[in-house]
Amino acid sequence: MVILKLPDEIEKARTSNRIVAEVLNRLREKVKPGVRTRELDKLAAEIADKKGAKPAFKGYNGYPYALCVSVNEVVVHGMPSERILEEGDIVGLDFGVCYQGFFGDAAITLPLGRVTQKASRLMQVTEQSLYAGIEQAKAGNRLGDISAAVQDIVEAAGYSVVRDFVGHGIGKSLHEEPQIPNFGKKGRGIELKSGMILAIEPMVNEGNYKVEILPDGWTVVTKDGSLSAHFEHSIAITDNGPEILSKKN
Ligand code: MF3
Ligand code: CO
Repeated sequence: MVILKLPDEIEKARTSNRIVAEVLNRLREKVKPGVRTRELDKLAAEIADKKGAKPAFKGYNGYPYALCVSVNEVVVHGMPSERILEEGDIVGLDFGVCYQGFFGDAAITLPLGRVTQKASRLMQVTEQSLYAGIEQAKAGNRLGDISAAVQDIVEAAGYSVVRDFVGHGIGKSLHEEPQIPNFGKKGRGIELKSGMILAIEPMVNEGNYKVEILPDGWTVVTKDGSLSAHFEHSIAITDNGPEILSKKN
C-alpha cells in the first residue's frame, strides 16, 4: 500500500530532505583528489549530528556507515574506507537522515578534478534522466511514466539502466511502496496521487546493465567493469506538480 502524506507530514519530510541536501552540498566542497572516502563519511555523520538528525543508512540491514561512497565502476552501496580519491575518478555520494520521524534520501555523482569526456557525459545523462523522471511525477500520471522517461533518456544516449536496484516511496520508513524501477512502460503501473513522496534514483551503466555484489555483501559493481553513475532526489507529488524536497531552499 502506498502511504499518502498530509501537508504537515510533507513539511517534515521537506525538513529532513533539506538536511540531506545541505550535507551533500558540504561534501561537494570536500571532494578533491587526496581525500579518503572515510573522511567524507565522518563529515556527513558530524553535520547530521549537529542538526539533530540521525543518519538513516547506519544500521539499516546492518550497513555500518552513514554514507555510501561509490567510486567509478561501483554502482551503489560502496562502503567508506581508507581509499584515497584520485583525479579522474567519479564518485557517487548517497546520504539519508531521519528527523522528526521522517526520512530524507538523495544522491549525487561528482567528478574528481578533470575527468574524461566519457565520464562527464555519463554523469550528465544520468542527472538528466532523473529530472525527466521527476517531470512525470504528477497526479494522474502512472508510475510507468516515470520509469519510461528515465529509461528513454538513458538508452537514447547509449547507456543502460540497472535492473536489480530501484527507487522507492519514502516517509516514516526509508523504503516504502511503491518500488520505482528505472525502466518500464508509459501508462502502466499504479496511478500517481497528490501526497505521495518518492525517491527517484536512476543508476546508469556505461556498458551492460548487469551488476554483481562484492564479497563484502554491500558493494554493487558493474559486471563488465564499466563506469556507473547515480543521482537521487526525494520528491513530493503536490496539486501543483512535483516538488523536489532534497534541495537546499
Ligand atoms: N539511497 C539508497 C536507498 O535508498 C541507500 C540505501 S543504503 C543502505 O536504498 F545502507 F541503507 F542500505
Ligand atoms: Co534511495
